[in-house]
Formats: sequence, C-alpha cells, structure tokens
Amino acid sequence: IKKIGVLTSGGDAPGMNAGIRSVVRTCAFHNIECVGIVQGYQGMIRGEFIPMDARSVKGIINKGGTILKTARSKDFMTKEGRKVAYDQLKKEGVDALVVIGGDGSFTGAMVFSAEYDMPVMGIPGTIDNDIFGTTHTLGYDTALNTVVEVIDKIRDTASSHDRLFFVEVMGRDAGHIALNVGVAGGAEEVLIPEENLGLDRLLESLHRSKASGKSSSIVVVAEGDKIGKNVFELKDYVDEHMSEYEVRVSVLGHMQRGGSPSCFDRVLASRMGVKAVESLLEGKSNFMVGLLNDVMSLTPLEQAIKGQSKINLELLRVSDIMTT
Ligand code: F6P
Repeated sequence: IKKIGVLTSGGDAPGMNAGIRSVVRTCAFHNIECVGIVQGYQGMIRGEFIPMDARSVKGIINKGGTILKTARSKDFMTKEGRKVAYDQLKKEGVDALVVIGGDGSFTGAMVFSAEYDMPVMGIPGTIDNDIFGTTHTLGYDTALNTVVEVIDKIRDTASSHDRLFFVEVMGRDAGHIALNVGVAGGAEEVLIPEENLGLDRLLESLHRSKASGKSSSIVVVAEGDKIGKNVFELKDYVDEHMSEYEVRVSVLGHMQRGGSPSCFDRVLASRMGVKAVESLLEGKSNFMVGLLNDVMSLTPLEQAIKGQSKINLELLRVSDIMTT
C-alpha cells in the first residue's frame, strides 16, 4: 500500500476531525501518502481529492464537524456510481480506504470492496452509538456531555415554574443517548425504543413523582421511541390525563451533533486512526476498528453492520431506583 484515502460519510460526529488527523499522521509516520476525499463517497465519484501531509491536519483535534465534509451519497448506491468512484481512485493512485462513518457508510464500503480490489477499514463515527463491535463510537461521549449540560439547564427553568418537560434526544433507532443522559440528568422517566414502557406506566410514574413531593420533572424521550406518540402528542396526552403538571416540550435536535470533542473522543479517535491504518498495512481488509474492554479490536464489517449494539438495560433499573 502506497496511498490511503480517508473520508467521512453519513451524519457528522464530534471526533471525526481527530480521526482524520490520526489517519493522516499514522500514514506520515509509516511514510505512505494520504489523500482526503471531500464529501464522502460523493466526492470520490467527483474525484475531489486533497493531498494531506502531517501538517495539513494541525489545529483540528479540538474541532467539531468534519473538515472533509460529509454526505449521504445516493449515487454510490448504484453500480455505475461505484464504477466511476473506482476509476477516480485508480487515477489518483489510491490503493486503500479508511471510511469514518456509521452503518450506511460501512455497507457502501463493503459492497465496494467486494466489487473491486480495494482494501477498506471502517472507523465508527456517529453520536448514536448504534454499532456492533465497539462499546463507543466517535462522537457519542461528546454528545452525552452536550445533552447532559442542556438537561441541567432545562431543569433550572422546569423547577422554577414547577413544570414537566419532555426532552427529545437523538439516537435514530437506539436509546443509548437517552438512557445515559436520563440517568446522568436525573430524569423521572426515560423512553427508549428497546423497551416500551407503555403510556399507563408513564402516567403512573408521573403521578407517583407528584405524590412524593416533586414539583417538576424531566422525561427524556429517544427520537426512535416506540410508545406510539411523538413528544408533542405525549404532551397532549399528559395534558389530557393529568392536571397536576404544566407541560413543555424541548426537541434538542442537531445541536447534539456539534461542539468540540471530549477528551474521551479525541483519544478514541487517535487510537482508532492508528489501528485502522496499521491494520491495512498488515494486509487486513473489510474490518471495523472498535473499542472492546478498552482494547482496540477488529470486527468484520459485515458483523458490524448486521449485529445489534446492545443497550445496557441495567441502567434502566438504576434509573428507576434513582427516581425513588
Ligand atoms: O445518525 C446521527 C443522527 O444525528 C441521528 O441521531 C438522527 O436521527 C439523524 O442523524 C438525523 O439526520 P439528518 O442530519 O440527516 O437530519
């Protein structure tokens, strides 16, 4: 391998820049060339490559977003699109790829490397933490810290007005963010897709909380929650069934994806970049780099895509006990 291409794809996540920096510097350390591919697979098809040396990634370890930009490419899902992408890589002399992204990005990488002779290595980057084969994805820890900070602020206003807040957090179909910030933010209830508590239980728990002398409450709702109502409908439902609370809704949205990466995400990104490049240099391909028991590990991309990232259900019980 003489030249590695690095790209970020799918939703951006804090720590992606630290990951790019690590890939670039590990290439420089091993005296191989590195190019950044702009806007993920979309830029690969357009042939937008930026030569990257060790100094080109200075001052980015602390930056949110991704300097390479990102996209969810529809063209790369077609055979024709992937053919153009391969021709562009060959023209540029790229002979291996590091893909930083989520499962959609890994599916693209897997299909591509099966069709063409192109070694690929994945680095999991998404705030959702919904990827099998790693306990932490890049950006997850930062997002948790961002959301907890916001919940603390919402609590200030909730308790001043004796209000109940439904706070919707991201996570796509997974409840990792919701469950953890629920515990860390002292939420009365946490609604996650993995465990449907049902509307009766929600009302019961809110009644219990009121009866126990609490005047305000926060309920964290994962965006993928399956209770059958969105946050605004939940507000209407509680308004209808409980007169004790004045209810408000706060949908946190994309601010959860921004901001300077936490120390944990910077270190994780640095470790993952080294592991990804060195694994390619050892002749490995089609794996995702992950963190398991604080050790860098490799999981076949296929497993990383198909496997289920398990939610820590013990936390639900902890959350219940903490609201006593
Ligand atoms: O996968 C990251 C994520 O932020 C999810 O939590 C969310 O469901 C989705 O991306 C939002 O996507 P978009 O930025 O395309 O609206």
